[in-house]
Amino acid sequence: MSTKRISDQMEKVLNDQVTKEAEAAQVFLAYGSWAEGKGYPGIADFLYNHATEERDHMKKVIRYINARGGEAKIGAVSAPPANPKDLKDCLDKALQHEIDNTNAIYGIVNLAHEEKDWATFNFAQWFVKEQIEEETLIMDLIDKYNLAVDSQKEDNANLYDLDKDLGKAPQHVDIPREE
Ligand SMILES: [Fe+2]
Ligand SMILES: [Fe+2]
Repeated sequence: MSTKRISDQMEKVLNDQVTKEAEAAQVFLAYGSWAEGKGYPGIADFLYNHATEERDHMKKVIRYINARGGEAKIGAVSAPPANPKDLKDCLDKALQHEIDNTNAIYGIVNLAHEEKDWATFNFAQWFVKEQIEEETLIMDLIDKYNLAVDSQKEDNANLYDLDKDLGKAPQHVDIPREE
């Protein structure tokens, strides 16, 4: 009797997510290195830590696939995109990566719903909540950035304070939930 408890299609979609999480880690690692080179140690720390979070997500999906009797596959990872133009571009692109990843998670949820695979549906809910947190976190950083600079030019003293602030940004935020 087969002990595989996920469909072949679900196995493929989950394996695609393994690669996506690895690629997200690559992006944040590359942006972190860019920020470090530009003299933003705070944002570099935030991005490096975020890269580690994405690696943890990757491992979580790998272990779920294997736990359900599937076979997790470690695929090739694409090269990260070009360096951001500036700090604003860096934060905007980071948010866009999170939104793209959220859409990929929704794809897993949709397939689980279609297949009535409630185990994977339940598993994916952790990621749905995690993505709300990650999008909120980066949107908050963008708000801080907007507050720190005036619309005409980037002020170095403000950017210095902002960078220190971003370095202390947590990797998690509490989302108020209705009970
Ligand atoms: Fe992730
Ligand atoms: Fe993320």
